[in-house]
Amino acid sequence: MLDRTMVTTLERFILDQESLHADATSELTNLLYDLALGAKLIAAQIRRAGLVNILGTAGAVNVQGEEQQKLDVFANATLKNALNHTGRVCAMASEEDEELIPIPEGYPAGRYTVLFDPLDGSSNIDVNGPVGTIFAILHRVTTHGQGTLADVLQPGRNLVAAGYVLYGSSVMMVYSAGHGVHGFTLDPTIGEFLLSHEHITTPATGRYYSVNESNFGRWSKGVQRAVRGFHGDDPPRVKGKNSRYIGSLVADFHRNLIAGGIYLYPGDALHPEGKLRLLYECMPMAFLAEAAGGKATDGRRRILDLDPTDLHQRTPLVIGSAADVDYVTRVIAEVEGTG
Ligand code: F6P
Repeated sequence: MLDRTMVTTLERFILDQESLHADATSELTNLLYDLALGAKLIAAQIRRAGLVNILGTAGAVNVQGEEQQKLDVFANATLKNALNHTGRVCAMASEEDEELIPIPEGYPAGRYTVLFDPLDGSSNIDVNGPVGTIFAILHRVTTHGQGTLADVLQPGRNLVAAGYVLYGSSVMMVYSAGHGVHGFTLDPTIGEFLLSHEHITTPATGRYYSVNESNFGRWSKGVQRAVRGFHGDDPPRVKGKNSRYIGSLVADFHRNLIAGGIYLYPGDALHPEGKLRLLYECMPMAFLAEAAGGKATDGRRRILDLDPTDLHQRTPLVIGSAADVDYVTRVIAEVEGTG
C-alpha cells in the first residue's frame, strides 16, 4: 500500500538533483518550480473548462459579462506571468507570440531564456482530449540586460533542461535537466507534483508507430516505404507495429516514451518542412528522447544539431525508440539518397 508519509515532491526532487546540475546555483531549480506552478494553474483551468464554458473563441463574453479567454490564450499568459518577474529569465519565446517576449520594465533580467508551447494539441481541447505544455530552458549567450534573438536561437544541444506537462486522465510533468528523465504526477488533493516515474528509459524498439496517415499520399517515397515497414511490409528488418495516433504531440510522445514507439510528422508535398515548430516542440522533445535513450531526427539529421534561424521555424520530426528512428533514417537514405 502507498505510504502517504513517504512521498517525494517535485520541489524536493529537483532540490536533491541540484548538485548534479552544471549550474551550482538553485536558480534552475526555482525556474523549474515556476514552470510547475504555471502548469498547476493551467491544469486547474483546463479541469474547470467545461464548467465555466471557456471553450469559445477568445474575446467571447460569458454569462457574467466577463470576457472569455480561450485556454491557449490563458495558458500563454499564465506561463509568461509565472516567469517574467523572477529575475531568472532574460527573455521568453512562445509559440503563441510572433516576437520575442521581453521582461517587463522594472523587473530584473536573469541568466536563462525559456521557450514554450503553452497548450499543444489544441484541436483536442474542444473534444475533451489530452493536451500539453512543452518547455525548454537555455542559458543566455549575451551578458546582461534584456535577452535578444541570439539568446533564443540556439541549437538544441545547448539546452539546459526541457520538459512537458500532460493534461490527461491525470496531470503529469516530465522533465530532464540532462541527468535522466523523471515524471511527476499531480496529486489534486494536495496540489503537489509527486515523483511517480524516476529515470524513464525508452525501449530500444517500440510497440507503436504514431503518424497522421491521411497525409500518406503526399509523403516522399522514403517516408512511405518506412511507414509501410511499420505496417509489417519489411519483416526481416522491422516488425510490424500497432498504430496509435491521438494528434496531440505530448500525449503521443508520452505513450511512446514509456511503452516504446516512434512518432513521425514528416514533411509532405504541400508542407516540405512539416507542421511542428523546431523551438517549441521538436527541440525540447528531442532533448527528452535522447535523455531517455531514444533518438530524434528530421529524417536525416539529428534535431539537436539543427541551427534555428527563425523563432517559428518548422521541421519534420521522427522521434522515439532508437532502433525505429534508425530504421526510418536508413530507409529514407536508401530510397532518396543521402543528399
Ligand atoms: O502542432 C501541434 C499539433 O497539434 C501536435 O500536438 C500534433 O501532434 C499535431 O499538431 C497534429 O497534427 P495533425 O492534425 O496534422 O495530425
